[in-house]
Amino acid sequence: MKLIKLLANLGYGSRKDADKLIRSGVVTDVEGNALKSKDFPGLENIRVLGEELDPVGPLVIVMNKPDGFTCSREDPGETVYELLPHRFSKRNPGINPVGRLDKDTTGMLLLTDDGKFLHQVIHPKSGCRKVYHVVLDRPLSGEEGEIFGSGELVLESETKPLLPAEFEALGEKEALITLHEGRYHQVRRMFAAVGNHVLELERISIGGLKLPEDLEVGDWRFVTAEEQAAIFGPLPEISGH
Ligand code: URA
Repeated sequence: MKLIKLLANLGYGSRKDADKLIRSGVVTDVEGNALKSKDFPGLENIRVLGEELDPVGPLVIVMNKPDGFTCSREDPGETVYELLPHRFSKRNPGINPVGRLDKDTTGMLLLTDDGKFLHQVIHPKSGCRKVYHVVLDRPLSGEEGEIFGSGELVLESETKPLLPAEFEALGEKEALITLHEGRYHQVRRMFAAVGNHVLELERISIGGLKLPEDLEVGDWRFVTAEEQAAIFGPLPEISGH
């Protein structure tokens, strides 16, 4: 791949911008020698302003999503993309969330430029469960486990019943819920269906991968190959959160 096209695909600017960047001498090899557009010393040997290049796709990012950020570029307000380097939103192929979280949902969000990975994670048949920690407005009735696990619950304005979900009460107004699909506002609507109201919602795992404990709210990092494999592995141990 040509250096200009590589830089443009990684979001460093349009091809014209990338050409300008190269001409300005800030695209160098590891020794700091300015590269020309025809040079290509290998991905690991290219520096932009002295920094290593961003990884070439396919890539997966894990973020600890804060409250108040939307996952859609079209929605008004702050978006999760603003927590990433600006150039990431100009990459080709683009980076998209692997199943959106509501603006006021926090916790584990994956983002990827890999369409196949995205579909594997969100497709109910992949067996990739998502676990949420929920804080409720009203005390649990004790019937939630049976109702959510029945496979018969139909949400308002839908006709297809939900797949059975696992439910574990953690306290009077606190629970874990494990979903095998991702419908619009699903957890909030499930609790609304049983006469309750979700006050706080946090996604704490996707498949076999838990939200990394060292990831502060608002932070993100690239997912390692091991973590990516873990997503499709057995469920992690999750106890009272
Ligand atoms: N269910 C919801 O209601 N909201 C989310 O953000 C995720 C699951």
